Amino acid sequence: MQSTAPDYIKHAGLLAWVAKVAELTQPDAIHWVDGSEQENALLLEQMVAAGTLTRLNPEKRPNSYAAFSDPSDVARVEDRTYVCAANKADAGPNNNWMDPDEMRGTLQGLFAGCMRGRTLYVIPFSMGPLGSPIAHVGIELTDSPYVVASMRIMTRMGRAVYDVLGENGDYVPCIHTVGAPLAAGEADKPWPCNPDTKYIVHFPETREIWSYGSGYGGNALLGKKCFALRIASTMGRDQGWLAEHMLILGVESPKGEKSYVAAAFPSACGKTNFAMLIPPAAYQGWKVTTVGDDIAWIKPGSDGKLYAINPENGYFGVAPGTSVKSNPNAMAMLQQNVIFTNVALTDDGDVWWEGMSKDVPAHLTDWQGQDWTPEIAKATGRKAAHPNSRFTVSATQCPSLDPAWNDAAGVPISAFIFGGRRSSTVPLVFEATGWSEGVYMAATMGSETTAAAMGAQGQTRRDPFAMLPFCGYHMGDYFNHWLKVGGELEQAPAIFCVNWFRVDENGRFLWPGFGENMRVLEWIVGRVQGTAKAEKSVLGWMPSYDDLDWSGLDEVSREQFTDLMKLDTEAWRKEVAAHGDWLAKLADRLPASLAEQRVRLSAVLEG
Ligand code: OXD
Ligand code: MN
Repeated sequence: MQSTAPDYIKHAGLLAWVAKVAELTQPDAIHWVDGSEQENALLLEQMVAAGTLTRLNPEKRPNSYAAFSDPSDVARVEDRTYVCAANKADAGPNNNWMDPDEMRGTLQGLFAGCMRGRTLYVIPFSMGPLGSPIAHVGIELTDSPYVVASMRIMTRMGRAVYDVLGENGDYVPCIHTVGAPLAAGEADKPWPCNPDTKYIVHFPETREIWSYGSGYGGNALLGKKCFALRIASTMGRDQGWLAEHMLILGVESPKGEKSYVAAAFPSACGKTNFAMLIPPAAYQGWKVTTVGDDIAWIKPGSDGKLYAINPENGYFGVAPGTSVKSNPNAMAMLQQNVIFTNVALTDDGDVWWEGMSKDVPAHLTDWQGQDWTPEIAKATGRKAAHPNSRFTVSATQCPSLDPAWNDAAGVPISAFIFGGRRSSTVPLVFEATGWSEGVYMAATMGSETTAAAMGAQGQTRRDPFAMLPFCGYHMGDYFNHWLKVGGELEQAPAIFCVNWFRVDENGRFLWPGFGENMRVLEWIVGRVQGTAKAEKSVLGWMPSYDDLDWSGLDEVSREQFTDLMKLDTEAWRKEVAAHGDWLAKLADRLPASLAEQRVRLSAVLEG
């Protein structure tokens, strides 16, 4: 086994940990990843030779690749995801739990010899700008070169991380295996994984992550959901900061006034599109800039404001639905240097996915390698690209990237926005009257299931703060933490709720969405800058038709706006009753002030 660590690594604890994991997992070799161009080129070449990656036509999509996963390994596996807190109650009803000692026993058995026939890669990475007071370091040990190439895009990865760590710096240890050891002479699969056994395990007290059996992004790129949300949320609880499932964007007016907002939407509600919004033509001189599209780490600054960084370095976005209409910036950033996963291939070696273009190619190779034509799709319903197919691309390729996106100090947050997919009940926008009222709204927010998700269509599932699958501890404690952090701020950001998805009686969307969301965003930043008007309602502050700028948009009439903003008392009575059912599940740790707010809201609705 080639296992000698480079002499620039001075961290004895880290060296001992790697040696211990290697002894357990038995890899054929250890590769200490340095993050260099040459190393990356070599790994990509090896993956092309192994069939893991297909090189795309360099004239169409320079330096870009497509990977195709095992059909059993296409998404996060929430039912196989565990938070093994020492006390079950601390994990909360929002997490799967197993006794940590029992889980360690299970993992020891699974990881013994799991890397046989493979190379163990040691990946040093920083979530957030290197050395930023808001950033944290992780080390991922993996036997997947696809993970190495993806982590190079998604995190600040490479040798410089060891300078930050020094001889005894803290890091989050992350261990990942595809869970498919090779017998001597056995040929490898292009996408090795374990189709039967998967475990995505977090130990919050020791801040460790162990991931077994999957090669898919959310289960295998451990910096993302596992570290930056589940583990980081527990770090934030203990240290007084927030790790959130939020995009961060900047809004600049023609006069040069700039505000940053952070926004939480459940998966598949258009976070990446909103983060990269291009204002409508009538908004001459307005700019929306992107700091992040999925995760925000937010800390109180010494001036009593909140500061946020995007801990990631790239975007792992859902491809289907991304088009020149829905997200022109994303289409521009995907022109080169991209790793696509589970998209379809065109006959000339480029990529395609549902919703990319109006003109559907006459022939494609689908994500499972089969012939695909519009006729086949009509007859069988088979998609060309998997609905959860992805692009992995560096943030620096985003045309709307904010100039401060890499600032170690983060950007000051003036407003939080929460939104779900609701066909009725929830108005286009409103502002909570205070921090705890906003926390109540975020704690009870729901989103309707779509055909792309499992389960019945059109049902409202509660997804508080869009964090239900990602909060690494009891959700009731998490609400308490939000109340505490906000309560201690001198200038707490304002909290807004939005809903882009309300429909009319024929099921047609009432709001055009995409770039037109700028009109709502302008009102939001106007509210925090003290320039936008509003009227008080049962829910909070709401704009009237004339408080929004409608220039260049005839599509939304006054009547339509009334429908978009309508508060149907009967529907809200039912809604608040549903909040009650949801909050009852967290009763053992629910902050009293949230329960009181529900009672107050129901009383007002009873009128
Ligand atoms: C994601 C998700 O991949 O939220 O970002 O599922
Ligand atoms: Mn996400």
